[in-house]
Amino acid sequence: MIFLDLGSQPLANEYLNKKNINKPEKKYRLLVDFNNKNKIVSIKKKFSSETMFKNNYPYRSSMSKTMKTSFKNFANEIKKKYKPKNLLEIGSNDGTFLKNFNKKKSLGIEPCLNIANISRKKNLNVISDYWSRNLAKKISKKYGNFDLIYSANTITHIKNLDEVFKAINILLSENGLLIIEDPSLLECIKNNTYDQFYNEHLYVFSYISLSNILKKYDLDIYKIQNVKQHGGSIRYFIKKSYKIKKIHSSVSLQYSKEVKYGLHKLQTYKKFANRVKKSKIKLRKIFQKILENKKRIIGYGATAKAVTILNYCNINRKNINFFVDTTPEKQGKFIPGVKIPIKKYFKINKKIAEYIFLGAWNFKNEIFLKEKKFLKLGGKFITHVPYPKIIN
Ligand code: TMP
Repeated sequence: MIFLDLGSQPLANEYLNKKNINKPEKKYRLLVDFNNKNKIVSIKKKFSSETMFKNNYPYRSSMSKTMKTSFKNFANEIKKKYKPKNLLEIGSNDGTFLKNFNKKKSLGIEPCLNIANISRKKNLNVISDYWSRNLAKKISKKYGNFDLIYSANTITHIKNLDEVFKAINILLSENGLLIIEDPSLLECIKNNTYDQFYNEHLYVFSYISLSNILKKYDLDIYKIQNVKQHGGSIRYFIKKSYKIKKIHSSVSLQYSKEVKYGLHKLQTYKKFANRVKKSKIKLRKIFQKILENKKRIIGYGATAKAVTILNYCNINRKNINFFVDTTPEKQGKFIPGVKIPIKKYFKINKKIAEYIFLGAWNFKNEIFLKEKKFLKLGGKFITHVPYPKIIN
């Protein structure tokens, strides 16, 4: 059942350049669905990996200190606690996680060649291909099974989950550990972060829905960690069901939190959709008032998530002069749909703009620390999380 309509949207990571800015963009209707049977929340239009993850992909995990540190810390935890013989990462991006492991005993899968090549420059062992059973069979022949398979912010990007888990089962050793990390649906609904929905986030998992999916593949979640990444994510610790001796209390705790909030009921999502509509009105009002007072607004972090907000709320170049972003692949380009220019990051002061719209709200702490001076001198941020407001 569709519960949310976020309107006509362009593909989030298809930044425009000067050449194609006036050409018609590929657009789709961003509808979000709740399946009452298996409790899965997904977007209706599911693009293939081949359409979205090509050889000019602009996203790099290493662009934030927060991600670099959290990947490093978790890699150290894995090495200490699980001592895996070998490790496979599905969706290794630029190697921010993988580089923390012995290069001879770890393998990354990254379909976007330009990004895979960045990690290869760090001498990491990376295959540039889409995750599939065929690929898993080829890997199995060359490397055998894996003790640990890790995948962060990737599984939810792949349309065919059946293929995903069958491929994982080909490579996961009998006692192997599978760790999946993705944004938490509970946090998304609670914090009204409707921008978690864009063309690449085909699914936003809850514990309830993921455990339903895994059953078919003889896999089960035995432990959960709530982590702060990307506005609140869940790390699921998974094993072959018949190998699980004890289920950690974190699992039943997460289950009760999700049931208490009503993630198993359509009504919860309908209420969320109402809050999203109100959030749009309020955010537009904030922008309107600032511009009426002849103040300037720029954007910070040209995220894929921001594409959803800006296009849904009709916030364009008239409202935001430009965005700054540290990612070289995004600089000099324009945000899809709303065509706001993206500049190379530079220190913002109040001579440039009095207000900054926080596109990368999930890195709020890191950004506020970096822009301490701007805040101290009276600069203000605009955010829509958990509801539209001005922060000073
Ligand atoms: P994400 O929310 O999809 O991970 O994207 C974060 C984006 O924000 C990415 O393009 C890098 C950018 N960014 C900055 O420009 N400056 C910063 O300080 C941080 C933390 C991120």
